Amino acid sequence: MEVGFNRLMVAGFHKEKTSAARSFRQDVINGLKSVPKRLQSKYFYDDAGDRLFQDIMAMPEYYLTDAELEIFRDKTALLSQGICFEDTAFDLIELGAGDGVKSRHLLQHLSDTGADFRYMPVDISGNILDILRENIEEAVPGLEMMCLQGEYFEMLEQACAASGRQKVVMILGGNIGNMEKKDSYEFCLKIRQILSPGDRVIIGFDLKKDPFIILGAYNDPSGITAAFNLNLLTRINRELDAGIDVAGFQHYQTYDPLSGACRSFLVSTRAQDIEIDGETISFEKGESIYMEISQKFSRSDIAILALKSGFVPVSEVMDSEQYFVDVIWQVA
Ligand SMILES: C[S@@+](CC[C@H](N)C(=O)[O-])C[C@H]1O[C@@H](n2cnc3c(N)ncnc32)[C@H](O)[C@@H]1O
Repeated sequence: MEVGFNRLMVAGFHKEKTSAARSFRQDVINGLKSVPKRLQSKYFYDDAGDRLFQDIMAMPEYYLTDAELEIFRDKTALLSQGICFEDTAFDLIELGAGDGVKSRHLLQHLSDTGADFRYMPVDISGNILDILRENIEEAVPGLEMMCLQGEYFEMLEQACAASGRQKVVMILGGNIGNMEKKDSYEFCLKIRQILSPGDRVIIGFDLKKDPFIILGAYNDPSGITAAFNLNLLTRINRELDAGIDVAGFQHYQTYDPLSGACRSFLVSTRAQDIEIDGETISFEKGESIYMEISQKFSRSDIAILALKSGFVPVSEVMDSEQYFVDVIWQVA
């Protein structure tokens, strides 16, 4: 089915606003009532969160962007060789695309080398998709593009329904690390089940390395990562009419080199009650909210993940420091 492609953003596939607002309220209240308390990191990305994440990507400590940018800017031909289906037309679907600063190098290369492809970026944030669209239109004028605002799998299904071509699904920037390990297996398995034999994926994995370098990327002295985490409390105040004293929480980051889990928390600096939409949630002094995991992988973790989820590894590209790897796998 060849529907919905044009050079501008295609709206109309995204979840109803009211339904998204209902899910936000329910997830926040359920998360803060659970033991331990937690919030889902997909909610970081309102307009302020998008801006703060762009600031994080520009921080010298946040090596992930530099490493993956090096792969996409300097080793583009290797990536492109791994995904081009000879002369077959394909669709490149990117999950959690963000502002597209890395992807645009690959898109440019594919376009310059005459590949017959269309681009379908997916993101939960409509704001960042607007920024991405501008970036991509400037870098690759005339590229056929369909922006899909919403959750990964809902939008992947929509993209596949609109495609009818071979597909490459791309997940960059360590997005896969923002899942617990068992969830990343289920995520890959689900992608494999939606795709067809011969389709491919490009997935970026942040590798285990010097723990001080990892921790430093999430513990910046300028406080941008702290502001990024605290911004979710501000969003809850605004969208759920809550009365959280944001200054009553501090950001805390851990890295466990054994498991590879790098986790962020907001810790209550005093005993306090917060009111959210008629619900009262009590915090003890020192009690934390678990905010986000940024999982780090060993090479063998990645090989096992491919095998367990039914993909065949095709190739991989690393940066010169060997901090980060983008793998290309094919559906068996
Ligand atoms: C860590 S940023 C990485 C962005 C981009 N992949 C990069 O490498 O620069 C994560 C992006 O994924 C989006 N995102 C997070 N959870 C999502 C979900 N469940 N469904 C769709 N998009 C999601 C966020 O809005 C954000 O733009």
